[in-house]
Amino acid sequence: MSEPFTTNDFGAPVGSDQHSLTVGPNGPILLQDHYLIEKLAHFNRERVPERVVHAKGGGAFGTFKTTADVSRYTKASLFQPNAETETLLRFSTVAGEQGSPDTWRDPRGFALKFYTDEGNYDLVGNNTPVFFIRDTIQFPDFIHSQKRQSHTGLRDNNIQWDFWTQVPASAHQVTWLMGDRGIPKTWRHQNGYGSHTYQWINAEGERFWVKYHFKSNQGHEFFSQEDADAMAGIDGDYHRRDLQEAINREEFPSWTLKVQVMPYEDAKAYRFNPFDVTKVWPHSDYPLIEVGQLELNRNPVDYFTEIEQAAFAPSTLVPGIGLSPDKMLMGRVFAYADAQRYRIGANYAQLPVNAPKTPVSSYSRDGQMSFRDYPKDRPEFAPNSYGGPHADVSRVTENNFEADGDLVRSAYNLHAEDDDFTQPGTLVREVLNDEERNRLVGNVSGHLLGGVSEPILLKAFQYWKSVDTEIGNRIENVVRAAQAQNEGDTVGNSSPGTETDEALLRA
Ligand code: NDP
Ligand code: HEM
Repeated sequence: MSEPFTTNDFGAPVGSDQHSLTVGPNGPILLQDHYLIEKLAHFNRERVPERVVHAKGGGAFGTFKTTADVSRYTKASLFQPNAETETLLRFSTVAGEQGSPDTWRDPRGFALKFYTDEGNYDLVGNNTPVFFIRDTIQFPDFIHSQKRQSHTGLRDNNIQWDFWTQVPASAHQVTWLMGDRGIPKTWRHQNGYGSHTYQWINAEGERFWVKYHFKSNQGHEFFSQEDADAMAGIDGDYHRRDLQEAINREEFPSWTLKVQVMPYEDAKAYRFNPFDVTKVWPHSDYPLIEVGQLELNRNPVDYFTEIEQAAFAPSTLVPGIGLSPDKMLMGRVFAYADAQRYRIGANYAQLPVNAPKTPVSSYSRDGQMSFRDYPKDRPEFAPNSYGGPHADVSRVTENNFEADGDLVRSAYNLHAEDDDFTQPGTLVREVLNDEERNRLVGNVSGHLLGGVSEPILLKAFQYWKSVDTEIGNRIENVVRAAQAQNEGDTVGNSSPGTETDEALLRA
């Protein structure tokens, strides 16, 4: 095949790829060299703002197939028996910017787009079942505490722990994060969770509360802190590369979707607030119910147009799926589309990766970069007498829940077991084994020794003692012993106590 001639962006052939138009071979460059100007000007506009969080990531396309019948809980078409739906899944880290290493300790984004036959459905989750805060208003402060500081351009462990210890709601997620699952070996070897409680509505209009769990069929693998640090220097794009290469080898990663379903009325009397995203629903209360299989089997053809410009939003819902009274989820319903109008542009929904595979009959018009071919025979306003689209009024209260009360700024009303430390304590004592607990002590101590000072250090010890007294004491002893060592004392009086912790200190 012969190589094509270079053209400008409007298709006309150009005379040179390498030489600007000049007055004589050594003379000045001319403003009339419009091809040179097009090249420089377009180059200056190559970047769109990175995502304000979750900037570094990667993703792939695939399919979701149901393997069970959950139609008694939802009428959503993608969850009906034998349904098969095209999907896009983007993984990410939260706090790092575009060029940051994939192996930094952080939750991983697990953002799914389902191109269903009733419009797009986005499930924008993480690889963890919980989150650090429970009210949207805290999100900017939380993120400011985790990302680089404006005044220094540096990330700061002291500030991270200041925030976490002032906000004990973070304890569950921080415990999870400091464990093995805080640095997955690859994106393929981790679970995905919807994290929030969502609503499902069946064909009879019955409502249920639901939590999503995507269990990795590859199993769980993780990086130790040391190996992750080393990998950050060797290959900052390790996770992005791993996913692309696995798909190129036709080793298609897959996940089993299971859900926990809570009958609508149970929420009122449950022993803790079932809409609080800092808590899980114990499996013994609400067992996992299988729904289907998600497989990734196609790499993006163009990373920028299909992954960087992909826009996922918790507000992108389909019939049969709705929201819950979770103060985080409600903020997210505003935040994502707003961020995407700024980051990509007002008509981001028209881009092929974001557009549904079903017809769009909205009344949105015009705006920058609009390229939708609006039907010429339809009016642009509603209501109208000329056959334009009209809303389906039968859906007006489809996704709903009761709300009443005075306008207040307040925490959730406490249910009997709404404390911050029970579930992280269960994770430490009943889920982790001895080795996992040892690594938890090592990871937390190492992080605290990376620049955390008094009085934040004392607060951090207390925070961990509230999670679990023994783990808190061990962390304190390891940190104090390491400090004493650094100050030139003998380990003598500051021994961390257990043999394992002595070993941690020597490492
Ligand atoms: P279960 O024993 O039924 O569930 C324990 C859960 O912990 C499993 O989902 C398991 O995931 C997960 N898990 C295993 N190892 C780790 C690890 N190193 N780090 C994080 N999670 C891990 O108990 P409960 O449902 O009563 O939950 C007990 C605690 O388990 C919770 O307080 C919570 O901290 C944690 N957890 C609970 C989840 C839930 O939805 N109930 C989900 C994830 C964690 P897997 O089977 O995939 O290995
Ligand atoms: C990305 C806001 C909580 C998962 C984003 C973006 C914003 C945002 C503005 C960038 C969107 C874009 O530019 O495309 C918020 C706010 C939150 C919140 C205000 C709390 C109120 C959460 C929670 C989760 C989550 C609880 C997981 C359960 C993600 C993921 C992405 C993301 C996975 C990346 C999506 C992608 O791959 O494009 N968030 N977020 N966020 N958020 Fe959140």
